[in-house]
Amino acid sequence: MEIIKNASLQCLNTFGVDASAKYLSHIRNLQDIEALFEWKAKNDLPNLILGGGSNLLFKSDYQGLVAKVDLLGKDIANEDDEAVYVSAAGGENWHEFVIWTIQQGFAGLENLSLIPGCVGAAPIQNIGAYGVELSDTFHSLQTVNLENGEIQEFDKEHCQFGYRESFFKSQTLDKLLITSVTFRLAKKPEWHVNYAGLREALAGEMLSADIISKAVIEERQRKLPDPANIGNAGSFFKNPVLKVKDWEVLKAAHESLPGFPQSHNDNVKTSAGWLIDQAGWRGFRAGDAGVSDKHALVLVNHANASGAELWQVAEDIMASIEDKFGIRLEPEPRVIS
Ligand code: FAD
Ligand code: EPU
Repeated sequence: MEIIKNASLQCLNTFGVDASAKYLSHIRNLQDIEALFEWKAKNDLPNLILGGGSNLLFKSDYQGLVAKVDLLGKDIANEDDEAVYVSAAGGENWHEFVIWTIQQGFAGLENLSLIPGCVGAAPIQNIGAYGVELSDTFHSLQTVNLENGEIQEFDKEHCQFGYRESFFKSQTLDKLLITSVTFRLAKKPEWHVNYAGLREALAGEMLSADIISKAVIEERQRKLPDPANIGNAGSFFKNPVLKVKDWEVLKAAHESLPGFPQSHNDNVKTSAGWLIDQAGWRGFRAGDAGVSDKHALVLVNHANASGAELWQVAEDIMASIEDKFGIRLEPEPRVIS
């Protein structure tokens, strides 16, 4: 395992923040994982597991070792009468993996097309879009414990998936490295096309995984800024989940407040984008840090904003939303200082 000293992270995070890592290594195979394990035993420094850097904000330089997961490989692991089981290594690009499953004739991941990042990071926040979450097709995953080298397999129940949540996000960050993930893709697919925008785009269409994937890609390209053009990490805040009675009070004061009742409890999810937009933040800019003019939930780096400047905008938005609506927004990306 090669270790690079004082490495720039600018190309390794989609905000394009110019932070550096004291040490950087690329994890390409099992030997690299073993070397990382040994390095950790000898050095009293923290480590950060990095995928595509699309859900991180580096608020400052990182004073430890960044382990960039570049484990590659994907295959059809198994098949029974009802489903195929497809696996991919942690460093595979998520979107390319989705497209590969569609090309193999499988369905189930199409609504999650074009989400940036790597396969190994996808379970961390149980990625979701257009009415589908990773947990809907998840079968199992493998991890290596960077503290004792133990290899473990997790089934769905033990991952404790929730809205942008998992056991790994709440309990084991930087300790358990996800080496591969397996999905169960049903042979009789169920299509999920009720999300606003997708429903209209697909009205009257003969549905297939490929058609849905293309519609999702178009919707995403229309709505979200592309990190290739302007630095961002997608939604910067989670959508708040409110108790029904709190939502009703807010709704009485703000007639157009969106509300999505949750199927598994009595709560209502509302829209952080709507709240931020209503508070006048869309298109805001302070130096190179700001809020997208396409989507109020996306913070953007116009060119040379630092992580601290972006975080300042995030804090100002949180204070403003709390003041105006009495809701404390929760950041979605991991903020690293
Ligand atoms: P990173 O940002 O590198 O890491 C994220 C977290 O995962 C960190 O805590 C990191 O330590 C950990 N991690 C990474 N790899 C591993 C591993 N192998 N083992 C253990 N821990 C690991 N997310 C959605 O859910 N839905 C969306 O629709 C969506 N749209 C987006 C659109 C844009 C334009 C952008 C920029 C982001 C969007 N995101 C979305 C957020 C992001 O793409 C996902 O969270 C993605 O899964 C992050 O993957 P990554 O490889 O970039 O992870
Ligand atoms: N809205 C506004 N102004 C805006 C943007 C949105 O008022 O500038 C309101 C509109 O009422 C709109 C509603 O917000 O109908 C919802 O917007 P959108 O459909 O874009 O979805 P979102 O709730 O903002 C969530 C996820 C996205 C995911 C999309 C599609 C979260 C935090 N974000 O966004 O995930 O792609 O739904 O399913 O749950 C991400 O996690 O990074 C991400 C991009």
